[in-house]
Amino acid sequence: MSTAFRAMQIGERTFWVGAIDWGLRDFHGYATSRGSTYNAYLVLGDKVTLIDTVKAPFRDELLSRIRSVIDPSRIDYIVSNHAEMDHSGSLPYIIEAVKPERVFASPMGVTALNSHFDLGEQLTALKDGETLSLGNMSLAVLETRMLHWPDSMMTFLPDEGILFSQDGFGMHLATSRLFADEIDPWVVEHEGIKYYANILMPLSRIVEKALDRVRQTGWSIRIIAPDHGPVWRQDVGTVMGWYQKWAAQKPTMKAVVFFDTMWNSTALMARAIAEGLTGGGALPKVMPLSGSHRSDVATALLDAGALIVGTPTINSNMFPTVSDTLTYLKGLKPANKIGAAFGSFGWSGEAAGHVETILKDMGVEISEPPFRVKYVPGPEELARCREFGGRLAASLKEHAGA
Ligand code: FEO
Repeated sequence: MSTAFRAMQIGERTFWVGAIDWGLRDFHGYATSRGSTYNAYLVLGDKVTLIDTVKAPFRDELLSRIRSVIDPSRIDYIVSNHAEMDHSGSLPYIIEAVKPERVFASPMGVTALNSHFDLGEQLTALKDGETLSLGNMSLAVLETRMLHWPDSMMTFLPDEGILFSQDGFGMHLATSRLFADEIDPWVVEHEGIKYYANILMPLSRIVEKALDRVRQTGWSIRIIAPDHGPVWRQDVGTVMGWYQKWAAQKPTMKAVVFFDTMWNSTALMARAIAEGLTGGGALPKVMPLSGSHRSDVATALLDAGALIVGTPTINSNMFPTVSDTLTYLKGLKPANKIGAAFGSFGWSGEAAGHVETILKDMGVEISEPPFRVKYVPGPEELARCREFGGRLAASLKEHAGA
């Protein structure tokens, strides 16, 4: 059938039928500079099955891609692996258009979908470990609660070795090339780590357990088909290895130094502190918030061993941009970091202390008391900033076991 959008085949009887969101630039606070995709998959079993749907504005693109393979009314089952709106927003519309025999989700998924759409009796719960027969094929269910919502589950199609992993192993990357091995590897790794840091970092212990469970299933996974970004076929082991490494958050000699500045004094301090860190063998990444998005700071922090934060004092408080980034990072629960605060002030100078309090709340181990300079750092104060950076590098060396 002639359609505007075409499906892409990923297995003998499995097709990608998702949507490409080239214009997405913000995903609940995370800067998605390369857009995203909402992946959905069509499995042509005896029971024709649609796995996940797409964000609501893209529902007709999904239907058009399905129509390039079969008449959508032939779909018997819809399996919702994840209830977040980027994957279920068009579900009620698709149910209306397709009139499937059954719609499946995890038990928590049934609750979440009913809360959003009130689908009632149309939903059937699939339990962890259950197998859904598609007639000549089957789908095995692995609940992955909190990856990244309580309802999340993965489904495995043993007949084709395809793991439908919903948010897991995904990334926000709009691309006309479907498979990861067709895309610049640097872009794939960067967007993969950015997605992990900004979505999954706080759930790292759960990620480790999920990886163990996937291994214990003994499934022979040939393809990982996530709900965002490219499909993995030649690099299943690579991406699973990345997840193992990212989840561990083993500290390295990298030090993230983020700051904002009012009249350049805190910026001068940041640069001198970075010189001290470098001199001591650390690898500082200096991130002025005037040009660094909070989600890029989170990405840099994932495998860093130190978090060093600078702010001037304004009206007895830290700069609002610094507060914004600290609030965001606190929610992401970065692990295994040492850190410290610094900043210039005019008269009261509370802000660096406030930053230290938040760092402690985040579980960052404080290795130096707040370092403050009144008004403008002169040569002597800048030399002290450099020494401060040198002491932080020594602490980091010990912390990272370098
Ligand atoms: Fe891509 Fe948790 O939604």
